[in-house]
Amino acid sequence: MPYFPPSIVTIDLSAITHNFRKVKKRVGPSVKVLAVVKSDGYGHGLVQAAKRLSSSFGASRDEAADAFGVSFVQEGITLRKAGVKEPIMVLGGALHGEEDAVPVHSLVPFVSSMEGIQRLNAAGKKARRKIKVHIKADTGMSRLGMPLKEVLPSLRECSKLKFIKVEGLCTHFAFAFLKDKKKNLRQLKRFDNLVQEVRKEGHAIPTIHACNSAGIFAYPEAHYDMVRPGIVLYGSSPFDYPFPGLDLKPAMRWTTRIVHIRELKKGDTVSYGGNFTVSRDSRIAALPVGYARGLFRNLSGRIQVLVRGRRVQQVGTICMDFTSIDVSAIDNCRVGEEAILIGSENGEEITASEMAGNLGSISYEIHCHVGSLAKRRYVK
Ligand SMILES: Cc1ncc(COP(=O)(O)O)c(C=O)c1O
Repeated sequence: MPYFPPSIVTIDLSAITHNFRKVKKRVGPSVKVLAVVKSDGYGHGLVQAAKRLSSSFGASRDEAADAFGVSFVQEGITLRKAGVKEPIMVLGGALHGEEDAVPVHSLVPFVSSMEGIQRLNAAGKKARRKIKVHIKADTGMSRLGMPLKEVLPSLRECSKLKFIKVEGLCTHFAFAFLKDKKKNLRQLKRFDNLVQEVRKEGHAIPTIHACNSAGIFAYPEAHYDMVRPGIVLYGSSPFDYPFPGLDLKPAMRWTTRIVHIRELKKGDTVSYGGNFTVSRDSRIAALPVGYARGLFRNLSGRIQVLVRGRRVQQVGTICMDFTSIDVSAIDNCRVGEEAILIGSENGEEITASEMAGNLGSISYEIHCHVGSLAKRRYVK
């Protein structure tokens, strides 16, 4: 039997392109798309995801992002060093001490305070370069973002700063993934009012934007000049309810192989603590994947995996490097057979969202966690 790695995350880059096209179709040709590739491309690879959607790396016009979004300056530098030429926006802003790198690498930070803007102005002065920024207005997320009443005074101050150009005004939705639209519409109204006031005062800001993935699909009236999809690019729904017609392709598949099979007698227990007792004579298979490689221990007993396209139950406590599944129902199941933790086979599918639901979390966390801990490989 040939060598196989304990578990492997396969990233299908063509799925990212497919999902990007769905966003393009939704927003139309006049709205720009900033592809959010922060946090290592939600576990899919920062550089690999960005290159796939970059015209400098061969993406065609309707498959190419207009800009990329990262959380931190360091991620922006990584993209620049990889040769990405598009605008790179730092959604989390420049942290203290990172300002000087912003003009060097032509990054575009979001800003949430006048203090942050002043720090960037000083960095621009040192580098003798104007720094483009996007002012992030807090309309209800209450995390980053400028209080609404500070936005106009800040814009007035910015117009006096020699090394700052306010290129964008944006907000971030806290409720767009919910079925009940009330709270998100309240946020949107606040932002819309702000945009009107800013225009009335004559500030020319080229790029107004608000929508994350959920906003793109549920609030077409909020597309403005640009949208910022993240999770949908990787093929998961942002919604906590079934949203019709998304037609996304999951880009991440997580597989492993059976390394050992034990015949157990009724009454035997499985794994640490013996939390699982077999209720009849059973065949229990060991998979070489555990919490050290992305399979949360809190999923113990709560997930199924696919073997030959059939769902089988994970049993007993998930260990650091191994976990057990009950393969009694699979005829003549053998060592070396593939087991799918996330992915589809023969019409049966286990999604990151399903795994997240069993954990009491969201697909975002599963993607980031699995993608960073398991070995990754790419297919086009
Ligand atoms: C400012 C901002 N815009 C867009 C996104 C993308 O969000 P999503 O992955 O839900 O599309 C994020 C992610 O958290 C964000 O922080």
